[in-house]
Amino acid sequence: MSTLLGRRVLLRPLSVADFPSWTEVRTRNADWLLRWEPKRLAGQPDVTTDRDAFAVRCSARERERQLGTGYGFGVFVDGCFAGEINLSAIQRGQFQSAYVGYWIDERHAGQGYTPEALVVLARFAFDDLRLHRIQVAIIPRNSASRRVVEKLKIRDEGVAERYLEINGAWEDHVRYAITAEEWQERRDELLSEWVD
Ligand SMILES: CC(C)(COP(=O)(O)OP(=O)(O)OC[C@H]1O[C@@H](n2cnc3c(N)ncnc32)[C@H](O)[C@@H]1OP(=O)(O)O)[C@@H](O)C(=O)NCCC(=O)NCCS
Repeated sequence: MSTLLGRRVLLRPLSVADFPSWTEVRTRNADWLLRWEPKRLAGQPDVTTDRDAFAVRCSARERERQLGTGYGFGVFVDGCFAGEINLSAIQRGQFQSAYVGYWIDERHAGQGYTPEALVVLARFAFDDLRLHRIQVAIIPRNSASRRVVEKLKIRDEGVAERYLEINGAWEDHVRYAITAEEWQERRDELLSEWVD
């Protein structure tokens, strides 16, 4: 359950041993990534450069995994750390849903690693966790991220206004979702195009 394989990507939880590559990749990609992420609060330790804060982050992710509330994965390409993809805020009961977030090292951008990782994650979410719905929310001007979901023909559910705080501002987001019914219908096509 903890390591997922695609055609070229391997997904596995990050651990403290990943700190050297984590800090190198995150530091080098600060400009590339921070404009698409929530702003770090004043006084909050910087997980990019602070090993202890990174260790706490890894432990929190491990706890989420144990509780079944979230599954965070590092994305590895040719054995090297290249990004992350996460299922978060898993709600069971009548929702059976989760949110997806992702990023990739700019050096690896444009090679289809994120859509591949997203199909691998969807297979895990629907086939293993038996969720009913996963959602990706994207700022309208983030055309690279919108291309990821468009390539996979994930359904556009429209704009949620001032949906998430990103880099200090409440930003509109386009919500893209796929349900278990759609996954069943498209599973073979998506897996053969991106994973098998
Ligand atoms: C969004 C993101 C994860 C896409 O990952 P990816 O693995 O590059 O995805 P793809 O290879 O499918 O490329 C998607 C699109 O990115 C654009 N792109 C390609 N190479 C690029 C590069 N070097 N720099 C910027 N954009 C690029 C292209 O529009 C591409 O679409 P195309 O294949 O139709 O030309 C990545 O751009 C990223 O990490 N961005 C910063 C963080 C972010 O936006 N996260 C998502 C928040 S919702």
